[in-house]
Amino acid sequence: MIPDISIIKKDPEVEAIMEMTENQIKARKYTEHSRRHASIVSKWAADILRGLGAPEERVKLAEIAGYLHDIGNCVNRADHAQSGGIMAYNILTRLGMDYRNAADIMMAIGNHDEQYGSPVSDISSALIIADKADVHKSRVKKKIEDVFKANIHDRVNLASERSYISVEREATVIALYIEIDPTICSVMDYFEIYFVRMQMCRKAAEFLNCRFSLDINGNRLV
Ligand SMILES: [Fe+2]
Ligand SMILES: [Fe+2]
Repeated sequence: MIPDISIIKKDPEVEAIMEMTENQIKARKYTEHSRRHASIVSKWAADILRGLGAPEERVKLAEIAGYLHDIGNCVNRADHAQSGGIMAYNILTRLGMDYRNAADIMMAIGNHDEQYGSPVSDISSALIIADKADVHKSRVKKKIEDVFKANIHDRVNLASERSYISVEREATVIALYIEIDPTICSVMDYFEIYFVRMQMCRKAAEFLNCRFSLDINGNRLV
């Protein structure tokens, strides 16, 4: 049994964890990791597998993994992928998901972070790409008086007007499109902090038998 994403979203335990996660992220002035990020990653992870023609069951598992992938931030930002994977497993088995599917999601969540993770399944690969693709100015929660004095992470997010994923199935390409305001951050700034993440996306796309492509401001770079 795979619970519908709407059941997961309104589950009281998930709601409480999401709320406390948001409180902690706010208190520590980290980039937004709220229901907004969770919902976008959920949708994009599902879109990637659906776009590649995966069975609907795999699409639904990716959708759930995407929504729950950052709940470990409720414990602590450090090792949040590992703690989040275990938390998600417990929630999903309580909701009636069979052990195998719940373990599949645990594994994907436990591998989404670039520090210790790597693409280990179709769900994990879709989750990695969806997560790293969400760069947007609304994710900066600090009050920043002078954008040029902001740290590079905040500046890159502040400069990001729009980002989205496109699955080009015929060409076996998964493309990440980003529009950044070059007056706030340069493409080099973007690469300085996103290089490792883009390498991870490339490996994830390869796991899905695709090539990863990055398009910034209309220029296809890779
Ligand atoms: Fe994360
Ligand atoms: Fe995330």
